Amino acid sequence: MKPKISVLTTGGTIAGAAARSEMITGYRAGVLGADTLFAACPALSDVAAIDSAEVAAIDSKDMTEAIWLRLAAQIEEAFASGAAGIVITHGTDTLEETAYFLHLTMKTDKPIVLTGAMRPATALSADGPLNLLDAVRLAASPEAHGQGVLAVLNGEIHSARDIQKVHTTAVQAFASPDVGALGRMEQGAPRFRRRVLTRHTARSEFRFESAAALPYVPILYGHAGADSRLAAAAVEGGAAGIVYAGTGDGSIHEAVRKPLLSAAEKGVVVVRASRTGAGAVLSDESGCPEAYFIEADTLPPAKARILLALALSETKERAKIRRMFHEY
Ligand code: SIN
Repeated sequence: MKPKISVLTTGGTIAGAAARSEMITGYRAGVLGADTLFAACPALSDVAAIDSAEVAAIDSKDMTEAIWLRLAAQIEEAFASGAAGIVITHGTDTLEETAYFLHLTMKTDKPIVLTGAMRPATALSADGPLNLLDAVRLAASPEAHGQGVLAVLNGEIHSARDIQKVHTTAVQAFASPDVGALGRMEQGAPRFRRRVLTRHTARSEFRFESAAALPYVPILYGHAGADSRLAAAAVEGGAAGIVYAGTGDGSIHEAVRKPLLSAAEKGVVVVRASRTGAGAVLSDESGCPEAYFIEADTLPPAKARILLALALSETKERAKIRRMFHEY
């Protein structure tokens, strides 16, 4: 018997349509339904018994925590009604954020696989149909069990922990900087070459229900000529945490350092990440007050923001939050 796979659609370029087939920009994202996506890929029914549900129909730049909540509830429902795996079609712009939120909150060892496309469904050489087929094959495969939330695009299998969009328009738009992909789709099947060692899914302490009321955690971007105004506004605006997307290895502009230190003294949890796109931000060993700040390790700022918001939903203690940044 074929495994049952639930495809949950959220919109994106994979469901995008342009006026002409040669147009790969200037299209509308998230306008086509699941039936149109399935019709472009008849081989899907050879792999799995598929059902589908629309969770959203958006351009993923507009992703919200309310949609994450609906998506997570729908995933639970699909597993409860016998799905062997889940595929989520998603815009590529925030795919890594949704994937990491689910990686941290879904209590399952069953496969949850995100995919998307860089070219709209109407384009010549659209990449969506093969990505969708690969996602269904991956979600239906025993090898994907226990690997946390996965993404498959352009033949590469990535962990939600490490995947980042690294190109604005290329079909090869995703990478896992430093650690590389988990594996590839080869001859129609997943071939894993490494595993994720950080904590996730069934062994995570976080709950998707926290998305109903996540604390305010803005990201500040480090740059030449920075001043104290945005840091002050974040605190005045009620930030429970701040992620600083620092220069280089997470270094903080002198003009922003003081307001961040005084925010930390008031109990705001500050996490240092890097704007570079690769490499770890490590602990400050100098013994200076920056030790108040928590290092994001290899999490990029947008993912550090998700972990910090979920962490703050559980605790305000800096030592516990530091432990979470080491474990997840
Ligand atoms: C989106 O993220 O919804 C639009 C861009 C894309 O899917 O590639």
